[in-house]
Amino acid sequence: MSKNVNGFSKLTKLEKIDWLVSNFFNNDKKAKQVLMQYWNQNEILQNLHDDFIENTLTNYYLPYGVAPNFVINGKKYAIPLVIEESSVVAAASLVAKFWGTRGGFKAKVISATKIGQVHFMYKGDKKALENYFDAKKTRFFEVTKAITKNMRKRGGGILDIDLRDKTAELENYYQLHVTFETADSMGANFINSCLEVIAKEFEKEDIQIVMSILSNYVPECLVHAEVSCNVEDLYAENSAALAQKFVQAIQIANAEPHRAVTHNKGIMNGVDAVVIATGNDFRAIEAGVHAFAARSGKYKSLTNASIENGIFKFWIDIPLAVGTIGGLTSLHPLSKLSLQLLGNPSANELMEIIAVAGLAQNFAALRALTTAGIQKGHMKMHLTNIIKQLGASNKEKAFLIDYFEHKTITHNAVVEAYNKLVQDK
Ligand code: MEV
Repeated sequence: MSKNVNGFSKLTKLEKIDWLVSNFFNNDKKAKQVLMQYWNQNEILQNLHDDFIENTLTNYYLPYGVAPNFVINGKKYAIPLVIEESSVVAAASLVAKFWGTRGGFKAKVISATKIGQVHFMYKGDKKALENYFDAKKTRFFEVTKAITKNMRKRGGGILDIDLRDKTAELENYYQLHVTFETADSMGANFINSCLEVIAKEFEKEDIQIVMSILSNYVPECLVHAEVSCNVEDLYAENSAALAQKFVQAIQIANAEPHRAVTHNKGIMNGVDAVVIATGNDFRAIEAGVHAFAARSGKYKSLTNASIENGIFKFWIDIPLAVGTIGGLTSLHPLSKLSLQLLGNPSANELMEIIAVAGLAQNFAALRALTTAGIQKGHMKMHLTNIIKQLGASNKEKAFLIDYFEHKTITHNAVVEAYNKLVQDK
């Protein structure tokens, strides 16, 4: 059993590592070395990252890739993707090219309203509460004026404040339901600050404030993205039947939550990768998206497809509360660079780009799953990874890729084939 430690946060980074290594790694020098090898030599950059969170020991790398050739609303994009899973970037690139020659993606923000709530308990007469709320409502806008000033200049602010009776769900429970527009920022701090000031103004003896916090469920911060083409332009052969299968794959996801979760997970491969690359909060996005997928009471697909009059249409509606200013977006040099790469988009434009990245992933997955299956592509990627690990030359790599074209790829089989190749030289 390791000792409890007091004042850990006050230790230097090296002291923290030493304490961990002696308590959890048997004083193994290797553990210390692994942690320290990721320290950045650029002290300013390292300090910046150290300060993002508490008790930082080192940096944890994730690959940063890019998928070029996306056409969204007639504009070209190279989309940055931060993800550890192979095939996601390749799929995005292929799908971008595919739809680039079929009119590209069309995307549109439906609304960008965000929500915050003051949750409180009240045992008294409901009418008296309503009268008190009505009398206070304009005051709420006044007391938040200092906080909302800059936001109002940017076109955002508090849209409305509602009193909601939630006593049917929980005894004595009411809330102030506040709607916001936060322009180009995600707005979490702004919303929470407004809510706390409103709560303070509202509180009195018989109103017990429990908490004030934004909601990550944002069904009215919604973006739509779509692609469409003639059914015969969808596949090289057998297009009508395969397009039908594609639509059935979505129907299955809508009928069966086990499939819907995996279906939506594939969408989130694209969504999260752009969310992370642009310094946004992927946990907030994940929580909100999955609640939205279950809004009917049953967990369903985020995407839809139809075939009407010979036209195949494929679309997504997804809630995405993201920002392009504030938070990490301008603090992390790579988030900043991602946004530059995307042409410094507004938050609405970023919502459109992210929705497209999600739709593209789902297109790649369903197309593969309803034709050759996904393993073929995955195993190809797996093969190149093993070849890389073996330290094969370019010539050996070409030989092995050719050799495994029609063979089952397993780690052992590749190692054996490589050893034989080297021996036979
Ligand atoms: C893997 O990360 C994602 C897929 O499973 C998505 C899907 O099945 O639709 C391929």
